[in-house]
Amino acid sequence: MTQVGGSLPVGIIGGTGLTCLSDLKRMGEEAVSTQWGDPSDKLVHGRLGDQAVVFLARHGNPHRIPPHRVNYRANLQALYDAGVRTVVGVNAVGGIHQNMGPAHVVIPHQIIDYTWGRASTFFEDDLEQVTHIDFTHPYDQECRNLLIDAAEDLKLDFSDFGVYAATQGPRLETAAEIRRLERDGCDLVGMTGMPEAALAAELGMRYVCLGLVVNRAAGKSDHIITMDEIEAAIEQGMDGIRRTLERSMTGLGMLAPLPTAS
Ligand code: HPA
Repeated sequence: MTQVGGSLPVGIIGGTGLTCLSDLKRMGEEAVSTQWGDPSDKLVHGRLGDQAVVFLARHGNPHRIPPHRVNYRANLQALYDAGVRTVVGVNAVGGIHQNMGPAHVVIPHQIIDYTWGRASTFFEDDLEQVTHIDFTHPYDQECRNLLIDAAEDLKLDFSDFGVYAATQGPRLETAAEIRRLERDGCDLVGMTGMPEAALAAELGMRYVCLGLVVNRAAGKSDHIITMDEIEAAIEQGMDGIRRTLERSMTGLGMLAPLPTAS
């Protein structure tokens, strides 16, 4: 049976190593603004296979906005305003878990937030009532299942679990910080997972993370972390990320919006 993509576009937020989606059949670009300011870049409208997609480069294109300066609220609001109710956040991460070496793909199931000083909620000022969203499961399980099925079909080297430690950056961590994150139960570490996931939840959007390990975390290998190593892992692993996106896209597009999304 030929599946036809869903009517709502799927949002893809591309991180380090994914500032543009070469497989996207581009239909147009749109510079937008929101009540929270401007998103990192223009929205790129297009199709991946049958499915309408809106792509946004998290760090801008070219890559110029560091993780702590990304306007996460504007990014999520811009996608929401474009009709997106399902978002895939692609993140380059460091591997803490021993199985998570360079070019390994991770579909995490949990997150711990170590960031600070970021604009991390839509529910801040001019409220009619104080709002606390449920955030027990930060990543949408149906989206996770679709990414996991795609990665399995593609026979990728991947993990279907992982606790993501969201750190402030832009510097990488010390070895002692990574040991602490490991004691906390973290398996991977990155700088952009939060507040992105929480803001998506506040808007009632489905959100999932597709991580690419680009280095072993500080102190987890016999060498310090270099940009050359990171670039080599991106080169090696990003094709698997692109193919996972392409393969899961129709299914992601078919998911009904969460009832909490208005
Ligand atoms: N730490 C934090 N963020 C990262 C890393 C890391 O080792 N690698 C890629 N993003």
